[in-house]
Amino acid sequence: MSDADRLRYNQVRARLTAFGQSHVLAFFDQLDESAQQRLLTQCESIPLELLAREVNRWRDHHTLERVTHAPIEPARVVAARDVDVATYRALGERMLREGRVACFTVAGGQGTRLGWDAPKGTFAATPILRKSLFQVFAETIRSARLRWQCSIPWYVMTSPQNHEATRRFFAEHDWFALENSTVRLFEQGTLPSLTPDGKILLAQRDAIALNPDGHGGAIRALNASGALAEMERESIDTISYFQIDNPLVKAIDPLFLGLHAAHPESSGEVSSKAVAKRDQHEKVGVFCRRADRSMVMEYSDLPPNLAQATHADGTLVHSAGSIAIHLFARRFLEEIARAGHELPLHCASKRVPSIDLETGLLNESPTSSAIKLESFIFDTLPLAKRSLILETSREEEFAPIKNALGDDSPQTSAQAQSDRAARWLEHCGAAVARDSHGGYAATLELSPLTALDTEQLARHPRLPSRVDAGSRLAL
Ligand code: UTP
Repeated sequence: MSDADRLRYNQVRARLTAFGQSHVLAFFDQLDESAQQRLLTQCESIPLELLAREVNRWRDHHTLERVTHAPIEPARVVAARDVDVATYRALGERMLREGRVACFTVAGGQGTRLGWDAPKGTFAATPILRKSLFQVFAETIRSARLRWQCSIPWYVMTSPQNHEATRRFFAEHDWFALENSTVRLFEQGTLPSLTPDGKILLAQRDAIALNPDGHGGAIRALNASGALAEMERESIDTISYFQIDNPLVKAIDPLFLGLHAAHPESSGEVSSKAVAKRDQHEKVGVFCRRADRSMVMEYSDLPPNLAQATHADGTLVHSAGSIAIHLFARRFLEEIARAGHELPLHCASKRVPSIDLETGLLNESPTSSAIKLESFIFDTLPLAKRSLILETSREEEFAPIKNALGDDSPQTSAQAQSDRAARWLEHCGAAVARDSHGGYAATLELSPLTALDTEQLARHPRLPSRVDAGSRLAL
């Protein structure tokens, strides 16, 4: 080892030792020179102070304390029925025509619960044609570009683990007929996975185990990748944010855009959509207010007395469930990134294959859980002066694919997609057969290229007047 390398090694070792993490170098002497260099570089990039702070907070259950020390009030939610829809819609459409809007999909997650090995966006999600989630959104964006005669660039955040597979999928599908240069894939950052007592895990003898740093990592990644600067150059001021796993998202919603830009509840920094929680047990974050700011509180952080609280009519006091649909001002994200503002880290339990420090062998199926640290995009809400929360309906906009089976699974999502298509067709005058329970008795699929809403569907030249029981129809 050269003197310079020895000095570097000593510096890294001293820093790791100061934070009780020197075991990361346990196999250093057995590595060849290039592996040694790689490991040192990786160690230098680990935010050890941040990890130590978060692990202490987690260990001392400070998370709960942090969110309960100020009174938590229910969110103020705006409903479309209470606003001048035509005016706000027209404003949103103008923003689109002026080329001020970009779509942004976070697709860097690991999809552990679904158990899908490839990027989740490649998952075949639609009820009949089995289109991938990426295709659904690509068609939505293409359709919106055609309808409003505008450019809507699409930014997609991947992780180092799924970036190449995602890029290949888009290339294999010819970028879904979106011009290649209008789709921009970029990688998010990572954080080390930890043992329950805060020790960094090794994925290999020469590599730290890393997990993507959560959808909150989007802000740093948008900035570091140059995406925000690119948007500024292209005069894009509004970013439509959604997750890859919800095929019902209206990725382009002129009413939401107009409200975000001009409603008195909005400072134009960040706006969100909410649906009524199914019941107090549903595992979604809820919108609340604290110290006069909006926030989303994770279901696991909401104290039980608040989660259970009801109004006189039995409805939940804290009922506004977050469905991870937001609009952001580009400037708002730039300011957060420039100020170096760190969103808080949340801890999740996860089984992470790692090197056994005693044997040096990889334990592929650990029996105990590790800690995965992530930041969440909704923690930007309290940073906004005012934040609009728009009520929407679950049936229209929320059918995520999270689990392999049961709630929020491919099956429930496909059913919701088909039901929404049936409702839209009925709205446009078609007679759709029903079963004895009142549910729709046909399987339907509507491409976003056919219609983005009922208004557009009504203008479709070949709408069926009836859909018989048992039929399968893709339009
Ligand atoms: P989830 O919280 O559902 O996580 O992500 P996940 O990783 O996809 O799935 P599980 O928890 O392992 O089963 C919600 C959205 O945020 C994105 C996901 O791709 C999904 O669109 N996400 C999540 C990221 O882009 N990066 C992350 O680090 C985490």
